[in-house]
Amino acid sequence: MEHHGNRVNFGSKLGAILAAAGSAVGLGNIWRFPYETGNHGGAAFILIYLGCILLFGLPIMMAEFVIGRRSKASTGGAYEKLAPGTHWKWVGYLGVLTGFLILGYYSVVAGWTLEYLFQAVTGGFAHKDAAGFIQMFTQFSQDPFRPLLWLFIFMFMTHLVIVRGVKDGIEKSSKVLMPILFILVIVLGICSVMLPGAEKGINFLLNPDFSKVNADVFLGAMGQAFFSLSLGMGCLSTYASYFGKETRLGHTALSVGVIDTLVAVLAGLIIFPAAFSVGIQPDSGPSLIFITLPNVFQLAFGDMPFVAAACSAAFYLLLALAALTSTISLHEVSTAFLHERFHFTRGRAATLITTGCLIIGIVSSLALGEWSSYTIGGLNMFDALDYLTAKVMLPVAGMLAAIFVGWVLDKKILQEEVTNHGHLKVSYYPLLRFILRYLSPISILMIFLNELGFFK
Ligand code: PHE
Repeated sequence: MEHHGNRVNFGSKLGAILAAAGSAVGLGNIWRFPYETGNHGGAAFILIYLGCILLFGLPIMMAEFVIGRRSKASTGGAYEKLAPGTHWKWVGYLGVLTGFLILGYYSVVAGWTLEYLFQAVTGGFAHKDAAGFIQMFTQFSQDPFRPLLWLFIFMFMTHLVIVRGVKDGIEKSSKVLMPILFILVIVLGICSVMLPGAEKGINFLLNPDFSKVNADVFLGAMGQAFFSLSLGMGCLSTYASYFGKETRLGHTALSVGVIDTLVAVLAGLIIFPAAFSVGIQPDSGPSLIFITLPNVFQLAFGDMPFVAAACSAAFYLLLALAALTSTISLHEVSTAFLHERFHFTRGRAATLITTGCLIIGIVSSLALGEWSSYTIGGLNMFDALDYLTAKVMLPVAGMLAAIFVGWVLDKKILQEEVTNHGHLKVSYYPLLRFILRYLSPISILMIFLNELGFFK
């Protein structure tokens, strides 16, 4: 195992990229991106989303990498190390809190993927039509017990990897899971665009209708960019604290950004042709992938039930794996924080976090059924947590990370980290600094102000 000081590192540059990509690629790409795209009108949302990735997604990823690798600490301690005695440490703590909250409700959806995998394998999808799949999802997600069972199982799986540690747990699992996931997405995308009536879905994805663009669309695209790239909660900065000194930050950020965007667009290509082909509304929200996919395979291979079940099983397996590499990264942020800050053993820290997240998970799961009448600002607790974390907490902390690296951190540090202490020739350094100082914070601020109605 490679040690720097007494801190464990990822074993290779590729390991670092795959671990970061494993964190980024997840339910955010395959479950959340399609339904946000569907809710916000399709192609125009995607264009704005791509703009967000360039304007602040990739630059803030670089900022987090710099913070993490330079401080060699998890996000909870990184700011304190780089700017001792200042209030910047609160940005780190905010990240830990955000990750903890996201992990809670994210694991609920991750649990759903296991139920659907189970149903696919045990023949639960056979002889159902669109109405049947809608009913199946509603019944399942509102059930007070069954989703909780899968939530427990999923949290337990995450817990096991975390306890195994950085190199044996996180790096090894990402190296195996990421390539499998990529192949599955491509195969399923090809299947979906070949369905009868798929053109409408492709059209929805590629032909922008700007008349539908309003403040919510911008806020949604910004939230999605942060969520999908795992930014704004110090997840990637915590991973970067395990990067070796030869890891190229710019190259890694670009690879992660490209992989993450490709998987999201491919997921769109799986879902929308399929949804339009069977007449399911693109704005059916969080249930979108759970009602569309099994239905499509059912229709496409109706006379070959085994093939239909195998396709569904492959899809939900893919989703479960993608979710697992992300829950691992979410968990790692808080676990590493407790481990470093309060000197708990990793096992003890992980147990505390797992327990806390289970409680949040239980609340958000029940919020979709028994407790749906408890609302905050018109949103049930599940949706409220998603809104608060993705659309508020992540962008706020991301903006502060950009300001920190752009204005507070010595510019020599930024240059040293980006060029690996002068070993790399990096022509984009002045541009990156300019974006972090001005473009990223200002554009994020404008999106917030726009949402609050300042530009009306
Ligand atoms: N990026 C992950 C996904 O797309 C979710 C995530 C968000 C993970 C924030 C870590 C931090 O599913």
